[in-house]
Amino acid sequence: MDVAGKVVVVTGAASGIGCALATRFAELGAKVVVSDVNADGVALVATRLGALGVTADVGNPESINALVAAAVAEYGPIDIFCSNAGYSDPPTAGLSGTVDDYQRIVDVNLLAHVWAAKAVVPSMVERGGGYLLQTISSASLITGPSAPGYTLTKHGALGFAEWLTLNYGHLGIRVSCLCPNAVYTGMFGLEAGDITSEPPDLGALGEVLKASDVAAFTIDAMQTTEPFLVLPHSRVADSFLRKATNYDEWIAGTRRRLLKMREQR
Ligand SMILES: NC(=O)c1ccc[n+]([C@@H]2O[C@H](COP(=O)([O-])OP(=O)(O)OC[C@H]3O[C@@H](n4cnc5c(N)ncnc54)[C@H](O)[C@@H]3O)[C@@H](O)[C@H]2O)c1
Repeated sequence: MDVAGKVVVVTGAASGIGCALATRFAELGAKVVVSDVNADGVALVATRLGALGVTADVGNPESINALVAAAVAEYGPIDIFCSNAGYSDPPTAGLSGTVDDYQRIVDVNLLAHVWAAKAVVPSMVERGGGYLLQTISSASLITGPSAPGYTLTKHGALGFAEWLTLNYGHLGIRVSCLCPNAVYTGMFGLEAGDITSEPPDLGALGEVLKASDVAAFTIDAMQTTEPFLVLPHSRVADSFLRKATNYDEWIAGTRRRLLKMREQR
């Protein structure tokens, strides 16, 4: 697939990976819609890219429908929808999250993928196809130090993406899941809009990638092999394979690693 000239919507595009994806798509000649719940961030990135900016909360289906309507009104039918927005509950909070905390993270990190698919897939099918890029996380394949809300929503998002590709692939819907490990973004305190700063050494978290490199890797994969899984960190595939080969051994090893990380905090 050549992204030049394609209509692309990116959610969570005011910062980090979303900002980097929107920037790379724009560099390659796509018609980009920059969306985020952060209105100031949307205005900044949209102006920088000469893109359409739409403020939307992906945790709200009506807001996603309004985003899709605004994108179609400006550029015509959507070719690529990147469900990227997301956040993490605090990893140190354990099971202390409230009902509202869990409901909100399920809305934003998991159900947003469903609302987006409902809003764009039927018209993509009518036109013969389309592409969904789901930013998920390595936490969907191999549970790591992330918090419970993050872990469960990312596992759910991967399950939904699998369901989508199995049931809509034959109708021209392509689905790729970006499942990175650590990327230097707002999640690690980087300012919104900064996608090229050199990542600091985050010790036990291992290699931390720049958002701009992750975006280039992802869009290159979309333009060539269109893989279901996009894994910018090779260690994720290695660990996923170890887990599939011997789940109990993988759990024992990961438990030891997480205990060590907690002791070092
Ligand atoms: N940074 C990492 O190490 C890492 C690793 C794996 C996966 N991810 C995933 O990448 C995606 C992007 O995160 P990032 O690392 O770029 O973080 P980030 O904080 O830099 O960017 C996330 C953006 O999403 C927006 N957002 C949050 N809630 C929203 C909502 N309800 N509606 C619309 N926008 C909303 C934020 O305003 C922010 O601009 C997330 O889904 C995250 O889970 C990040």
